[in-house]
Amino acid sequence: KKRCMSIVKLLRQPLPYLLRHTHFPYRTFHRFAMSSLKMVLPSETDIDPDTQKLYTKSRLKRLRKQIDGAERKARRAEGLAIAKEKADAKRLEDSKKITLSEDPSLEKAKLCRVRDVENLVDVRVKIFGWVHVLRSQGNMIFILLRDGSTAPGILQCVLMGDLANCYNALTLHREASVCVYGVLHRDERAKGGFELRADFWELIGASSGDISNIVNEDALVPVLMDHRHLVIREEKTSLILRLRSTITQCFRQHMFDRHFVEVVPPTLVQTQVEGGSTLFKLDYYGEPAYLTQSSQLYLETCIYSLGNVFCISPSYRAENARTRRHLSEYTHFEAEMPFISYEDLLDYITDLVCDVSQRVYDQVSDLVQILNPDFKPIKPEDLVRMDHSEAIQYCRDNDIYKDEKTKEHFDLGDDIPEGPERQMTDKIGKPILLCRFPADIKSFYMSRTAEDEKLTESVDLLLPGVGEIVGGSMREYDYDKLMAGFKKHGIDPKNYYWYTDLRKYGTMPHGGYGLGIERFLCWMLAQDHIRKVCLYPRYMNRCTP
Ligand code: 4AD
Ligand code: MG
Repeated sequence: KKRCMSIVKLLRQPLPYLLRHTHFPYRTFHRFAMSSLKMVLPSETDIDPDTQKLYTKSRLKRLRKQIDGAERKARRAEGLAIAKEKADAKRLEDSKKITLSEDPSLEKAKLCRVRDVENLVDVRVKIFGWVHVLRSQGNMIFILLRDGSTAPGILQCVLMGDLANCYNALTLHREASVCVYGVLHRDERAKGGFELRADFWELIGASSGDISNIVNEDALVPVLMDHRHLVIREEKTSLILRLRSTITQCFRQHMFDRHFVEVVPPTLVQTQVEGGSTLFKLDYYGEPAYLTQSSQLYLETCIYSLGNVFCISPSYRAENARTRRHLSEYTHFEAEMPFISYEDLLDYITDLVCDVSQRVYDQVSDLVQILNPDFKPIKPEDLVRMDHSEAIQYCRDNDIYKDEKTKEHFDLGDDIPEGPERQMTDKIGKPILLCRFPADIKSFYMSRTAEDEKLTESVDLLLPGVGEIVGGSMREYDYDKLMAGFKKHGIDPKNYYWYTDLRKYGTMPHGGYGLGIERFLCWMLAQDHIRKVCLYPRYMNRCTP
C-alpha cells in the first residue's frame, strides 16, 4: 500500500516533471505490478475457454507448472533488479569520492576542432563540444562529440576508469557540453574514423537529458516546431543549415564573378510590388507602412548609378494558405540589369541556375548527396522554353484541369495555379522557363511584348518537384505606359514618386528577377517542405521561436 501511494503521488506530478526526473521508479513500479497481479490457478469445476469443456487434470497440472515457472522467473528478476538498484546506488555514492584532475606530467593539450582531427593524430589535444550520442559499455563511456566545426563533424571519445566512474560521468546526459583531453588515434571502427582516448575531461554545462523525449522520430510537427531551437542540433537539420550557408555563398560568388554590386534595400516600405492581398501592414510612427514583398523597385533605382545590382534580403507575404512552398517571411535573391532585352533576361536566369548548381556541385556535392543522392547540376540544354499559351495547351492535351472535380479545362488567359502548374512541371520533368504571361494576371510594372499588347515580357522558372523558383520580367520604362499600369491595377502612384521619377531621368529598357532561396534549397536538397530549409520558419500562425 505504501509503495502504491508513493507511485500515485508521483503520477500526480505534471508529465514534464516526470520526464525530467530520471529517478522515476520503473523498477519499483514493475515489482509492485508483479506482486499485485498474482496468477490464479483454475479448478476442476471451471470451464477451459480453449476447449469450452471442464478443465482436465492433466491440463491443470500443466498450467500449475507454467504458473510456477513464471513466478520463479519473476522472483529471480525482482532479485536481480534489487541487486542492480543497490549496486547502482553504491556506485553513485562511491563516484562522489572521485575527483578528476589533469596529470601535469602529460604533454600540454593542443586546442582542437573536429574539422582538424586528421592533422592531429597521435597528438594530445583538448576539444570542446556537446555530447551528441552517449553510450555506456561496462566500465567505459563512449561519447560521440559534436562541435559544429564541420559536417558530419563527430568525434568518438572514450572515457575509462575513474573518468567513467566519477559522479559527472554517471549523471552525464545527451547535449551536455564538455571538454575532453587525450591523445587522438585513427580508428576505422569509430564513426568519423578517429577516436580520442581521454586522460581527463570536464563537464562544462550539464544537460537534463530529456531532449530525446521531445525531439524524436515520433514527435508531431507542432512539437518539433515549438522546439526548433533544439531540433537544429540534430544531424540532418544542421546539415541543411550548413549547406544553406554554402549555397547562399555560391549565389554571391556567381554575382561577384559577373561584376554585380550587392545592395541592401529597406524592408519597411510604403509601396506594394506583388499585389495588395499579401501585404503585412504596420503602423510606422502613425503612418501606414508595409513589410516589403520584393526589393525590385529599389533595385531599379540602383541600376542608374551601379549598373547590374543584386540583393539577398527578406521579403514578406501574408499568405493565407499553408502549403509546402509558401512562407510568410522568405529570403529573396533579386537582381536588376539595365540596357538588356527580354532574351538577355532569359539568358541571365539560365546562367544563374546552371552556374550556381555547378558551383554547389563542385564545392559540396558529397554533402548535398547525403540529402539528395540524385543531385546533378542543371545544364543550359536541360531548360525548356515555353510560352504561357503553350502551357495552357499542354494542360488541355494532358488532362491537367483547372478544376479537377468538374474536369473543367484551362482557357487562354487563365492563371495556372500551383497544383496544376506542379502537375505540368513534374510531367515534363525538366526545368521550364515559362514565358509571356497575360498582362491581366501579372503586376503593374511589367512591359508588354511587341507582338501582342495583352502579353507581358515576363518569365517564371519552374523546377520539377517544387514548381516556381524564379519570377522575373522586363519593366515598363515608358512613363505614360507605367502610369496606365498603376491605373489599371487601381494603385495610387503618389507613394511611388521616386519610382516613376526613374522614367523621367534617363529611362532605358531594363529587367530583373527574384528567386526564393528556400524554394531553390527544397529543390537542391530534395526537401518536401519549405519549413525544413529555414532556421526559424515563419508561416501562417507560426511566429515562434
Ligand atoms: O514571383 P514573385 O512574386 O516575383 C517578385 O516578387 C518580383 N518582384 C521579383 C523580381 O522581379 N525582382 O516572387 C519571386 C520568387 C518566386 O518565384 C518564389 O521563388 C519566391 O520569390 N516566393 C516565395 N517563396 C516562399 N514563400 C512565398 N510566400 C513566396 N512568394 C514568392
Ligand atoms: Mg511569381
